[in-house]
Amino acid sequence: MTTELTIRRPDDWHLHLRDHALLAAVTPETACHFGRALVMPNLDPPVTTAEHARSYAHRIIQAVPADCDFVPQMTLYLTEDTDPDDVAKAHDEGSALAVKLYPAGATTNSGSGVRDIEKVRPVLARMAEIGMPLCIHGEVTDDDVDIFDREAVFIDKVLKPLRKAEPDLRIVLEHVTTETAVDYIRDAKKGIAATITVHHLIINRNAILAGGIKPDFYCLPVAKREKHRVALVQAAISGDRRFFLGTDSAPHTRDAKLQACGCAGIFTAPNALSCLAEIFETADALPKLEAFTSINGARFYGLDPAEETIRLVKGDPVEYPIEVLSDDGPVLVFDPGFPLHWRVET
Ligand code: NCD
Ligand code: ZN
Repeated sequence: MTTELTIRRPDDWHLHLRDHALLAAVTPETACHFGRALVMPNLDPPVTTAEHARSYAHRIIQAVPADCDFVPQMTLYLTEDTDPDDVAKAHDEGSALAVKLYPAGATTNSGSGVRDIEKVRPVLARMAEIGMPLCIHGEVTDDDVDIFDREAVFIDKVLKPLRKAEPDLRIVLEHVTTETAVDYIRDAKKGIAATITVHHLIINRNAILAGGIKPDFYCLPVAKREKHRVALVQAAISGDRRFFLGTDSAPHTRDAKLQACGCAGIFTAPNALSCLAEIFETADALPKLEAFTSINGARFYGLDPAEETIRLVKGDPVEYPIEVLSDDGPVLVFDPGFPLHWRVET
């Protein structure tokens, strides 16, 4: 039985670090385990320009504990007013690695996102030209589309036409939640990949809705039926280089989540790697963990996987905090519902 596993230092290719008090509280949770993370730009106001990205990166670095070696990789929030030259400049100078497309209204702080994709075509064409990836929140927002169908409808109605129109644009379909998305990525020829979160590998929609409503498991895209969770696990453990980790760890204070209209987002940073080791072990796929957490994503983004390693050690159930405290209030840590036996030694 394997009780120790050494893997290259993981990267998190989809992470929310927020700003101010939350930034200070949550950044160490990622920075001490992960070498890099692609930081989402959905602040309020959003990170829309190269200059915003530089200054946000600076604030993040100030929140990284001195003994953790962590490099934030930044994203720009795509709006209908985004200037292609500014995007190209951010790419050139290295102040942003990718651009994030939020359909307006799809999720937390997406109000400045894209309503009409035609309006951002010049930016997308420029990105295709310079090889800068587009990260997509892949859900339509139409009231008449059922929330459980929004990802599949997005693939049909938006993603397929977009890929036809911009065949050279490199795309990451973020936090996929359906078998439909997994199959779509698998069948795609080139230039597209997908991130998978920790929580979507663990919960299905029953976790949110059966036996009482659990706002702590509410995130977007919302978790789907069990068969979709199983498809996500199969993709994650497959070693296929088009699937990699993006935790979508999305901290909200407990007050913001527990109210009549609670926020979407699950905070997984503190126990993400322990959860993943447990899932991969259960699926008899521990040797595939490193590809998912530490290699595939870096390769897609044209970066070298880390040389440095971390050790995962199996033992008694790991004690991780129930919540992380911030000056804005406590942020609940994801509870997978089973004990975690793998501890990270950095
Ligand atoms: C994210 C957040 O809170 O910023 N929420 C979520 O439910 N995942 C935004 C997002 O990635 O959709
Ligand atoms: Zn997210």
